[in-house]
Amino acid sequence: MSKRNILITGGAGFIGSHVVRLFVTKYPDYQIYNYDKLTYAGNLENLKDIEDSKNYTFIKGDILDSDTLKDTFQKHAIDGVIHLAAESHVDRSLHNPDEFAMTNVIGTIRLLQVAKDAWKNNFEGKRFYHISTDEVYGSVEHGKFFTEETHIDPQSPYSSSKASSDHFVQAYHNSFKLPTVLSRCSNNYGPNHFPEKLIPLMIHNILQQKPLPVYGKGENVRDWLFVVDHARAIDTIFHKGNTGEVYNIGGNNEWKNIDLVHLLCSIMDKKLNRSEGESAKLITYVTDRPGHDLRYAIDASKLTNTLGWKPSVTFEVGLEKTVDWYLNNPDWLSHVTSGSYQNYYQHMYSNR
Ligand code: NAD
Ligand code: TYD
Repeated sequence: MSKRNILITGGAGFIGSHVVRLFVTKYPDYQIYNYDKLTYAGNLENLKDIEDSKNYTFIKGDILDSDTLKDTFQKHAIDGVIHLAAESHVDRSLHNPDEFAMTNVIGTIRLLQVAKDAWKNNFEGKRFYHISTDEVYGSVEHGKFFTEETHIDPQSPYSSSKASSDHFVQAYHNSFKLPTVLSRCSNNYGPNHFPEKLIPLMIHNILQQKPLPVYGKGENVRDWLFVVDHARAIDTIFHKGNTGEVYNIGGNNEWKNIDLVHLLCSIMDKKLNRSEGESAKLITYVTDRPGHDLRYAIDASKLTNTLGWKPSVTFEVGLEKTVDWYLNNPDWLSHVTSGSYQNYYQHMYSNR
């Protein structure tokens, strides 16, 4: 296996930490540089088990900071980028769209430009991999699925910023032949997920016996994929994906929010020795999210048929592993839910 120097942006976040772990452990000949600003969502505790590995280096840096990016590319002869750094939560994007435009759009452009300059238009053996989301396609009616050809139709400030960054990535490929590849994944779940997103927020609130805030009627549908399977797909696409192309990644695992919350309640009632139905009493319907996309559903057949990836973990097993991880890591949960999380929760949920 050849040696590589790979920059992973956002490697201290939820998905990024699983990607870093997979690359550090699977590819001992690669040097992995985790470049992360450590926003509220970045947490080095996620990487405690691999932080002393010889082929792993953490660099605290902002993707908006071109100088630090340039230094990093030069000093470490970076030849591959896996770009995950982003503001990632739809509800926050409704309150603070500027930050999403800055990080997700301008930050991605700066990273593209630094890679292009550092590689001096000699792109042999180079790769720039941008991680995107199915949310750029907007909402899809029942019975239909997003393919890579589906028209981009983002509805939230978050998905608009991701769609814009996708276009810039494609533009750097079309205009400068930068060797890009891009993937769009459905909703991830698993260990280390920050409890602002549906599944970890519900797990946290069930533990605390706090109300479980379901937006609107709970009829919205998401396709859930275990985060380790997303990391495996990223590994496959980074190594085997065709330059300039887009790959959809999904779990073929659609759930209405309300059904998923009931399932979590029932799993946790058993694990916590509560009587069946006890946690479900906490379900509280709250004011819907503005512009709430009704359904996301991914057709990942291109990735499966051309590159041979498919999910390895069923939803039953993945959800069980996830709940167990939160029950076994109370310190992680209490660290991320103390301090500013309390203000966030108050601000986001008190008037719903
Ligand atoms: P996350 O919010 O958990 O982590 C984001 C990471 O990026 C954090 O470590 C944060 O510190 C870092 N970061 C933010 N701004 C930065 C900046 N300016 N410079 C450097 N680092 C910065 O996000 P996630 O859920 O792990 O998502 C990772 C990527 O995957 C994002 O690009 C997201 O759009 C995409 N994605 C997420 C999902 C999902 O279900 N979570 C699904 C599909 C795609
Ligand atoms: P989320 O995890 O924020 O992911 P996304 O909006 O990017 O799909 O939300 C998943 C679904 O759960 C979405 O339809 C909104 C809904 N939801 C709730 O009903 N209550 C909540 O407290 C949260 C955070 C989300």
